[in-house]
Amino acid sequence: MLFTDVIRTKRDGGELSDEQIQFLVDGLADESIPAEQVSALAMAVVFNSMSFDETANLTLAMASSGTVLDWSQEELDGPVVDKHSTGGVGDKVSFMLAPIAAACGCHVPMISGRGLGHTGGTTDKAEAIPGYNTAPDFATFKKVVRDTGCAIIGQTSDLAPADRRLYAIRDVTATVESVPLITASILSKKIAAGLNALVMDVKVGSGAFMKSPERANKLAQSIIATAAKANLRTHALITDMNQVLGLTVGNALEIQEVVAYLRNERREARLDDVTLGLCVEMLVVTGLETDRDAARQRCDDAVTSGRAAEIFSAMVAALGGPADFLENSEAYLAKAPVVRPIHANGYLTTVNTRGVGNAIIELGGGRHRVGEVLDLSVGFSDMAPIGTLLDAETPLAVVHAASEDAAAQAEINLLAACATGSAAPAESPVIYEIHSGED
Ligand code: URA
Repeated sequence: MLFTDVIRTKRDGGELSDEQIQFLVDGLADESIPAEQVSALAMAVVFNSMSFDETANLTLAMASSGTVLDWSQEELDGPVVDKHSTGGVGDKVSFMLAPIAAACGCHVPMISGRGLGHTGGTTDKAEAIPGYNTAPDFATFKKVVRDTGCAIIGQTSDLAPADRRLYAIRDVTATVESVPLITASILSKKIAAGLNALVMDVKVGSGAFMKSPERANKLAQSIIATAAKANLRTHALITDMNQVLGLTVGNALEIQEVVAYLRNERREARLDDVTLGLCVEMLVVTGLETDRDAARQRCDDAVTSGRAAEIFSAMVAALGGPADFLENSEAYLAKAPVVRPIHANGYLTTVNTRGVGNAIIELGGGRHRVGEVLDLSVGFSDMAPIGTLLDAETPLAVVHAASEDAAAQAEINLLAACATGSAAPAESPVIYEIHSGED
């Protein structure tokens, strides 16, 4: 088979056969198809899309291109379920959600990603915890999930290697924004992780890859329908990314917010809603609960009783972090030398959340290039939610920077990303929609 014929088929609006898709996936995994041909095909898919059958075939073929985890030998006493977010700014939900879901009877083997574009990455945040190993072998990963109920680790090269290569090529050829390609990319890794069920957090708004509710809903429906082909029960929440989620952005600062949340000391309302909303869906999609109100109460109890905090502590210690991290996190997390408030006047009306994410990159807390080493201490804390009246007493945020110059630049960038006005805007919900496959 000639790969040029595969490209030509898609360029002319045709449908790729099962054999053509398998040829593509084999050539991605063994690198026999060069990047320029892969990128030409990816661009043709961006323009001409894929049918449901093509998307499902691509997903299943990429899922089988490497190791597929099997949890059946582990004698787990609950379902194996994960959550995946399409990417946001200040999104530290995974660190609370995994132990809460584990406290409610789930097993959560979470394989997370690094920061992508302006969005933060769970793997980078985990590395703010000294000693925490985000790349254990599969035997250790399985043991931690079995013993504590959850483990959050980074991407491995063994799971869905065809997607790893396709994704790297899409990232540098402006071909990420395609519903079938995103569907296949996310699900191939989740199917390879051997899950029984999945909950998707599809973000929409100024800090998300999906800018409109229509696109977000389309992606959610595509993921749910394609996952069903692989017997992976999936629900999706469409959640707001028109402002930072929670009070902090930046790796160590976000982990400090996670600790305060799990210690039940400070639970910012929007962060709490998204975290518990996704946990509830994990209990519903796995059949552990049928009633969402009862599920929410159970998840809330996991926080207030301290059970989720205990599980988080056990997971951190089992993956090499300090045994007393939850009690003494302040002593362990990196601190920036320059810390000062940023002031503005009036009601905070809108936030260009992508601009906030880009300000973090400029501070050194995110990457311009793959492989760049991060300054985990930098970022913004005490971020004011939209609607806050800002004045000399109430800052827009507190910047944490490596130098006075970096802090001054971050102030300019944050102020440029935020608008104020003379009246508070109407409150908007943080969870827009729940898709459970029946729509
Ligand atoms: N996350 C992924 O893993 N793949 C995509 O294509 C987009 C987001």
